[in-house]
Amino acid sequence: MAFGRLTAIISIALAASQTARAALTKRVTCATGQVTANAACCKLFPIVQQIQTDLFDGGECGEEAHSALRLSFHDAIGFSIHGGKGGGADGSILIFNSTELAFHANGGIDDITARQFPVFQETGLTAGDFVHLAAAIGTANCPGAPRLQFMFGRPPPKAPAPDLTVPEPTDSVTSILARFADAGFSPSEAVALLSSHTIAAADVVDVTIPGTPFDSTVGTFDTQVFLEVLLKGKLNGSQPGEVLSPLAGEMRLQSDFAISQDSRTACLWQDMVNNQKLMMTNFKAAMAKLQVLGQKNLIDCSDVVPVPQVLNTPIKFPASFSRADVQVACKASPFPNNIATVAGPAPTVAPVPGS
Ligand code: HEM
Repeated sequence: MAFGRLTAIISIALAASQTARAALTKRVTCATGQVTANAACCKLFPIVQQIQTDLFDGGECGEEAHSALRLSFHDAIGFSIHGGKGGGADGSILIFNSTELAFHANGGIDDITARQFPVFQETGLTAGDFVHLAAAIGTANCPGAPRLQFMFGRPPPKAPAPDLTVPEPTDSVTSILARFADAGFSPSEAVALLSSHTIAAADVVDVTIPGTPFDSTVGTFDTQVFLEVLLKGKLNGSQPGEVLSPLAGEMRLQSDFAISQDSRTACLWQDMVNNQKLMMTNFKAAMAKLQVLGQKNLIDCSDVVPVPQVLNTPIKFPASFSRADVQVACKASPFPNNIATVAGPAPTVAPVPGS
């Protein structure tokens, strides 16, 4: 008897939870055939296609995709949880580019704002929606990336962000962590955001070698950058903001290296090495926070974002490198011991085309 009553209660509870789930996942089919959670997102599907065609060469993880991600950071970080530092993820960097591009930390951003501006105007989106949708799409073009969230409905930006909100590679770890904390990010979230440097190259740190990548697999969103920043440096690295890099053709930012070695962040950095799942989860969560800084009442249109290609292969030491070359700085946990080495002589990393 008691068992019968229990079964009935469980059945009712299950039915109720299924109804609730059905209500939550109610979908809309757009006139263009795509399915989304909210009818307001339908207008975005053709815009996603247009951005892929006009900005990302049909869906590539190239220079423009990398720069679109960097732009979303430089736009959004113009914000403080204490107020007085800009409207956050509002697209001010695109609209007020004549002001914000003059800031030292925005060196090299002019190329992507110039590329994005005409496409932005054609789409009819607000600048904030455009910048952060383009970043989500560009990132999705990189194999291994998480599918970023996209929230829709930012109002036009009211004013440019002030100077000195974007960290510089010459900054100390203390000052970088303080700036992230001021914008609402923990050290763990700051390290997660730096996963972006796996699809990154520098044009202006050393203007004589534009398009110099931060890791040897700049076209894939893997954890290789977390490994290579830890390798002993021996080449290049004489400009402010860089330190010696392990590989020819590669650049190591002083800030990335300092963060990898600092006791507050070394283990957070090391945890990412060869842990694709952790990196994807943490980067996705931190980006979801970054891309809505200062915004409210947005509609979740994440299902317009393309699904990135999955990356299953483990990372490797570049040829000629091994565990003996790692500058281990994390004391709390051992360095992963299962990383193989690519065969052959030490590689020279090629620059990113179009930089
Ligand atoms: C400590 C914080 C950071 C510092 C000091 C920093 C610094 C830099 C520097 C100096 C460059 C090269 C610029 C050039 O010479 O062209 C760069 C590139 C890049 N950064 Fe960061 N960054 C930081 C955080 C971030 C974050 C949080 C993101 C994104 C979420 C990001 C995304 C990128 C990307 C994607 C590029 C490559 C752009 C391209 O290849 O065109 N960075 N960063």
